Amino acid sequence: PDHVGILALEIVVPSTYVNQTDLELHDGVSKGKYTIGLGQERMAFCSDREDVVSLCLTAVSLLMHRTRTSYSNIGRLEVGSETPVDKSKSIKSMLMRLFDDCKNVEGVDSTNACYGGTAALFNSIAWLESSAWDGRFAIVVAADVATYARGGARPTGGAGAVAMLLGPNAPLVLDRELRASHMDDTYDFYKGDMGTNYPTVDGKVSIRCYFEALYNCYYLYRKRFLKKFAGTDYSKSNILSSKSVLQHFDAIVFHSPYGKLVRKAFTWLTLHDVQLDAKCYENESDLLKYVNSNISVNMLSELGVIKDTEKLFTKLTAPTQKLPKNIGNMYTASIFGGLISYLLSKPTNEMAGKRIAMFSFGSGMCSSFYSITIRSGEKLETLIDLLQHIPVMLENRQSTSAAEFENTLTNQELTYNKAPFEPTSNVDNLLPDSWYLTHIDSTFKRYYAQK
Ligand code: ACO
Repeated sequence: PDHVGILALEIVVPSTYVNQTDLELHDGVSKGKYTIGLGQERMAFCSDREDVVSLCLTAVSLLMHRTRTSYSNIGRLEVGSETPVDKSKSIKSMLMRLFDDCKNVEGVDSTNACYGGTAALFNSIAWLESSAWDGRFAIVVAADVATYARGGARPTGGAGAVAMLLGPNAPLVLDRELRASHMDDTYDFYKGDMGTNYPTVDGKVSIRCYFEALYNCYYLYRKRFLKKFAGTDYSKSNILSSKSVLQHFDAIVFHSPYGKLVRKAFTWLTLHDVQLDAKCYENESDLLKYVNSNISVNMLSELGVIKDTEKLFTKLTAPTQKLPKNIGNMYTASIFGGLISYLLSKPTNEMAGKRIAMFSFGSGMCSSFYSITIRSGEKLETLIDLLQHIPVMLENRQSTSAAEFENTLTNQELTYNKAPFEPTSNVDNLLPDSWYLTHIDSTFKRYYAQK
């Protein structure tokens, strides 16, 4: 099939959030540490009625309803998540309750920190392009509940699920052959302690891993790009020599643990691109001066360096930040929140032909750099129309106090892995059409209902 990619996207977040300014006050840190220092505005968190499964159930059922797709037309369903509720039974299997009589659906869960959604996406795209494809659509859901123990990492939590309908003749096409990965064995962030959902995290090491992965992925992507277009009309038209590979993108979406890291990642990538293709920056004196500098992670905190990349950042990556800043880190779903933000940032007629770079990173570590080309047409209009409810949905969430947020997390610590379990929070507070946890029985079976 041609033009395999994303036909529709749906995002679901918990019904409550906490303002980062309130959290700064509550935590007694200096004013601006979370909002300016980390670059975050609001953080979504789950009540005891919401968990990774309820978020996925809501995301898939809304996607199917809004796109008027029949469940019998889905041949593959995969979930990317690092929020396990069962060490054997997949979240995917728990979503099969939505598929009344059509149980012929391939796919299970993919797990590696924030990378599982990307792995699921690549798998489903490969299925659609393979001899196993039976003509039906695929769905990928990336979903997580990100919570941290008290301390510096706590304000970088978040929660949400993004469901994507995939198929041929899509408006968002994953570029063939243009993909590169960097994977290694690291312990920067992991969940080896089975008694808690909190990760063990070395923040500084995780940031170093993120930058190392970004550089290596982009370097290899760039090589593939140059190889693919060498000797073609694309290169004959001299585009390759006048523009660097990075300069071919209209947007760059990064995995977004918090806004400040994305801001630095953009700078890191741009300065490396200047060094790889200095001649393409001849007219940009603000950037060309970095051509021989040693780019270190510490250097990225310097205001001058950030300022020198501001114009490009505003154009290429700032439009991808609305959802990540307002929801927090959704782990596997975070990068797709960035993609949705970009798609909502401009009128549809300005989107056609745009090229989007995607950098996906999961600690531990797995990372890939790939790209998407937007195709014009009715399907693009439909895809973007279906996203228009999102800004309103985000505003309709309930703001809760930082004390209540703390309280909720403390209760979750106390009830983690407990069975039987009866949630007590009010279902009326949930967003319309939400699925929610009714109870967990004494044998750890989980029960859900839809509002
Ligand atoms: N006003 C403005 N800026 C401030 C203020 C203030 N009042 N106070 C501090 N800052 C700045 C700091 O200067 C720093 O800026 P810089 O990064 O440009 O140097 C920034 O705010 C953060 O302050 P730190 O003291 O470095 O914060 P802390 O060490 O408490 O926590 C960290 C930051 C390590 C990122 C922590 O939140 C964490 O561990 N998060 C989880 C790990 C993570 O998200 N890693 C990313 C990749 S892996 C993944 O996706 C999970």
